[in-house]
Amino acid sequence: MGITEITPDVSPAQAHPEAPAIRFEHVSIGFDGKPVLEDISFDLPRGDTRILLGPAGVGKSVLLKVANGLIKPDSGRVFVFGFEVSAMREQDLYPLRDSIGTVFQEGALFDSLTVRDNVGFRLTEENVPGDEIDRRVTEALRFVELEHTLDKFPAELSGGMRRRVAIARAVVSRPELVLYDSPTGGLDPVTSATIIGLVMKQRDVYKTSSIVVTHRLQDAFMLASHHFDQATNQMEPLPPNQTDPKTGFLVLHQGKLVFDGSTPDLVRSDDPFLKEYLS
Ligand SMILES: Nc1ncnc2c1ncn2[C@@H]1O[C@H](COP(=O)(O)OP(=O)(O)O)[C@@H](O)[C@H]1O
Ligand SMILES: [Mg+2]
Repeated sequence: MGITEITPDVSPAQAHPEAPAIRFEHVSIGFDGKPVLEDISFDLPRGDTRILLGPAGVGKSVLLKVANGLIKPDSGRVFVFGFEVSAMREQDLYPLRDSIGTVFQEGALFDSLTVRDNVGFRLTEENVPGDEIDRRVTEALRFVELEHTLDKFPAELSGGMRRRVAIARAVVSRPELVLYDSPTGGLDPVTSATIIGLVMKQRDVYKTSSIVVTHRLQDAFMLASHHFDQATNQMEPLPPNQTDPKTGFLVLHQGKLVFDGSTPDLVRSDDPFLKEYLS
């Protein structure tokens, strides 16, 4: 590991198949002298999902931005598919970002662009041919079951539909890693369940690696205790007392990663902060 050069003929995600999707090594970052993340280390193995929990302001969004190279840590190293993103120049990160889909907090669509142009925005920037863009955009919108909204503007859609468009935009480049920042924030429980279903479908049907930030414990435990059934096209509960083995939890508290483990270990933890947080 430690490679920062991307060769044009190999997909970045396939260049180092032995490397985890994400590796943080002793990552610290602060702003204006105030530490935010302190000595964070963890691996996200390929195909795995981690639910990232922690109080507001603890640094969850910062962690995702460090993971996709938008922010450089003050110290420590960050690898994505074996590439050291913490040491790469911005322009060298572009090809790698095609392998990373990001759903930003609040979705953040362009109000003046149609759904089609919002979802295809990055492909257009990269000069992908028009018919290929149409194909990808239609496929991504079909994934979120919004192919009928191609010519609508964000203002004509409900909050839940806008969030689904943001997910379509994140997966339009068929990324092998998706970072979701509070994808259900501000949504009602029924709409949230629809969104969680899409996150689960990416995980179970497309086998993407992912980090999912959420404040909603019911969303977290839905992801841990269900799988997406392609036959019925919906979430189905796992058998009693089973949890998805590829889905685990990361918990941040006061700048530190206080938990990195499985769902059963989280539920059984004796840590006073975790018990309080989960109650
Ligand atoms: N670009 C920035 N400049 C200065 N401070 C920032 C910046 N981004 C985040 N912060 C601060 O870092 C802390 C963590 O923020 P954030 O990651 O957004 O928390 P959350 O866990 O709620 O997502 C907050 O105190 C926030 O004000
Ligand atoms: Mg945040």
